[in-house]
Amino acid sequence: RQIQEKLKLIDVVFELIDARIPLASRNPMIDEIVGAKPRLVLLNKADLADPVRTGDWVRHFRALGHEALAIDAASGTGVKEIPAKAKELLREKIQRQIAKGMKPRPIRALIAGIPNVGKSTLINRLAGRNAAVTGDRPGVTKGQQWIRTGADLELLDTPGILWPKFEDPKAGFLLAATGAIKEEILHVDEVACFVLQMLAEGYPDVLKERYGLAELPEKPEDMQAAAQLLEVIGRKRGCLAGGGHVDYEKAAGVVLRDLRSGKLGRLTLETPEESAVSAE
Ligand code: G4P
Repeated sequence: RQIQEKLKLIDVVFELIDARIPLASRNPMIDEIVGAKPRLVLLNKADLADPVRTGDWVRHFRALGHEALAIDAASGTGVKEIPAKAKELLREKIQRQIAKGMKPRPIRALIAGIPNVGKSTLINRLAGRNAAVTGDRPGVTKGQQWIRTGADLELLDTPGILWPKFEDPKAGFLLAATGAIKEEILHVDEVACFVLQMLAEGYPDVLKERYGLAELPEKPEDMQAAAQLLEVIGRKRGCLAGGGHVDYEKAAGVVLRDLRSGKLGRLTLETPEESAVSAE
């Protein structure tokens, strides 16, 4: 509801999602929330995602009718393209203003996304050193602050916070794996086993190489096989509890830290094909 109130003030929504989990990091009701307002889908943390799959996802969103861009808000890669893309999305509106003899005003945008997806990082990156917070304007809700970024774009200073897909168990694991939701909600060793299953399926060579594994279980989708794999990794990494037993929590911590920090390489844990399946 808060986002819908803000829609009246803006021209375009920047929907920020995590390029590693583009489905799980999307709010399930985003289409209803944003309605007909022009939208730019920004696949953030692209530095941590598989570049080939990121390309697939950008094409997927474009095919759905949303302009999309891969960015890395932390380092700034791709961020410079955002104002031009927003302008492109609003080309007709801007042309109408010019035709009426009006001077086009800067485009007003709202950044929206689930927690931890990088909204504040992106606001700071877009604002840069020359950020100037502008005050109240006629016709604008009192107290609403705008951040001027360059000549063409103004951002609402508070991002729209969306809830994640917590009802879908797989999405819950993906969100916990990437650190979008606190892993304490789920058992850390279960989250790590889930990650190992995903990697065995999508990136078997990465998994083998990182942990020096000669082979992977035949049926990694089997929870017991994944737990055994976690045990092997724990033993190799010296994650031991008393009596020579593996400390599963420690082993899980190793796997999750490796994933989140990019030590396992650039990985994407969902494909556009899965999106077709989940929409059916
Ligand atoms: P939010 O406002 O949407 O809640 O997210 P925020 O900007 O606070 O970003 C959450 C974390 O994600 C931050 O890490 C931030 O540095 C990181 N981050 C944002 N954009 C990118 C990106 O494009 N690439 C990478 N690699 N990281 C990004 P943090 O606060 O330092 O937390 P953490 O590093 O301990 O997870």
